[in-house]
Amino acid sequence: MNIERYRSIIPDWDRFVETIERPEPTTLRVCTRRVDPAEVTARLEADGFGLEPVDGLEDVFRVVERPRLASDTVLHWHGLYYIQQASTAVVAPVLDPAPGARVLDLCAAPGGKTTHLADRMGGRGCLVAVEVNENRVRALLGNLYRTAHTNVLVVSGDGRSLPDAALFDHVLTDVPCSAEGTLRKRGGKTRGRAPTGKFHRRLTRRQERLLRRALRLTRPGGTVLYVTCTFAPEENEAVVSRVLADAPTEVVPLTLPVPHASGLTAFEEERFHPALEGAARIYPHHLDSGGLFLCLLRRLEGEVPDTDASQDAMAAPVGGMEGGWAAPPVLYPPGDGEAEAARAIERALDDLRTTFGVQDEALERFRWTARGDSVWAHSAGEWPLAGWPEGGHWRLVSAGVRAFGPDAQRRLRPSNDLLRVLDAAVRERRVELTEGEALALLEGRGPAVAIGDGPVALVLEGHVIGRGDVRDGRLRSEIAKARARPLREVLERAVQRGD
Ligand SMILES: C[S@@+](CC[C@H](N)C(=O)[O-])C[C@H]1O[C@@H](n2cnc3c(N)ncnc32)[C@H](O)[C@@H]1O
Repeated sequence: MNIERYRSIIPDWDRFVETIERPEPTTLRVCTRRVDPAEVTARLEADGFGLEPVDGLEDVFRVVERPRLASDTVLHWHGLYYIQQASTAVVAPVLDPAPGARVLDLCAAPGGKTTHLADRMGGRGCLVAVEVNENRVRALLGNLYRTAHTNVLVVSGDGRSLPDAALFDHVLTDVPCSAEGTLRKRGGKTRGRAPTGKFHRRLTRRQERLLRRALRLTRPGGTVLYVTCTFAPEENEAVVSRVLADAPTEVVPLTLPVPHASGLTAFEEERFHPALEGAARIYPHHLDSGGLFLCLLRRLEGEVPDTDASQDAMAAPVGGMEGGWAAPPVLYPPGDGEAEAARAIERALDDLRTTFGVQDEALERFRWTARGDSVWAHSAGEWPLAGWPEGGHWRLVSAGVRAFGPDAQRRLRPSNDLLRVLDAAVRERRVELTEGEALALLEGRGPAVAIGDGPVALVLEGHVIGRGDVRDGRLRSEIAKARARPLREVLERAVQRGD
């Protein structure tokens, strides 16, 4: 498709064209819940990276000098920063969920905005992240576990058919789109599909249905943020305009802390709702980044018409729960065996306290939920799932992190992720490794260590990387191969460089 059609709406056209022809600089967002940005920037700069802050986005830095890829560091493996387009890092601060809020991310993978929202929620409240594509669910999980978030429930399923039972304070609707705003990744070329073809009609129908569902799932007074990374008004203002025409909602005009243009009220022959002027368009030259459309809506009282309600698995709120929200059960799905599960969890927590010196205050924020033969640790104080009908078009795949799993004797032992989440709260049996030692360990050549036999926490560059075991004075790694591989590769390159 010809980008020229946007000449009349994109301010400073020459700068826009000049920008999209240049490669996009890498930007990274520091995960501020776990680390101070100054610590990350100092460590990266000592490693040869040059960073400059992106004005208006306090936790985002542009990589202006890089001895290698910004993902090729131990800090990145630790999940202390996320490589994210500067334009997309605008989103979470606009929704601005308070710690403790109930938040839904309707199109979540690979999780740039989910992890940013979770970060801003300070590990409190409940963030439900929905994704329809199974492969992308895996990518989402990888990013959530790497960044060690515990208040996120990952739901595999179609956001259009989520049940109505529980209402959220905020819903992010980052819909699938023609992604013209990411054209710098393709040397300035769009994907070449006309905005009036069959592909676009199907796409815009899907976008509208997702937005309508988002509004249905938001409590009156709550907010929905509609986002695309495309310039096409057909996928942006036109979709929101149609919804504004019959749904109880209003545009909340945006004032962003970064350069941007207003939403459109007309394009070519089409007129849009006048309130769309309060939406925002970020073009690549605004932040030397990608393109983004954002429209913030407030849900009002009243019924939101759905374009096709017949496919929706709607459910009435279940009695005894406030608006469909309930305390997470000890056993999920709930049923017989809850008392037994509670006893097994208590034993596992006792072992954790005794072996690793973890104090009660580090464990207080978690709830423990047994599923199958594992126990999950999450900090969602409540969740909407009890009101969602069984066998619907959705499946809970993850609640926080998998915290305990059975060993060969069927005793629950702490997972790598739990030790990483607890990090500094693991006070005993820490084994500090140099990069060379960590590499040797991951290659199966564990060093001799002066610590008694038994489980240990492996520590690299000040943070726990996972669980190890000492036998006959020799250290072994118990980090799963798939998880260890990227770390091993980072370390191999570091050792080759002689870092
Ligand atoms: C623009 S991407 C989301 C990017 C993500 N929010 C982030 O910041 O990393 C859109 C995502 O929506 C997913 N998707 C498409 N249709 C969906 C649906 N009906 N329900 C849930 N997810 C859907 C796509 O698979 C894709 O992963």
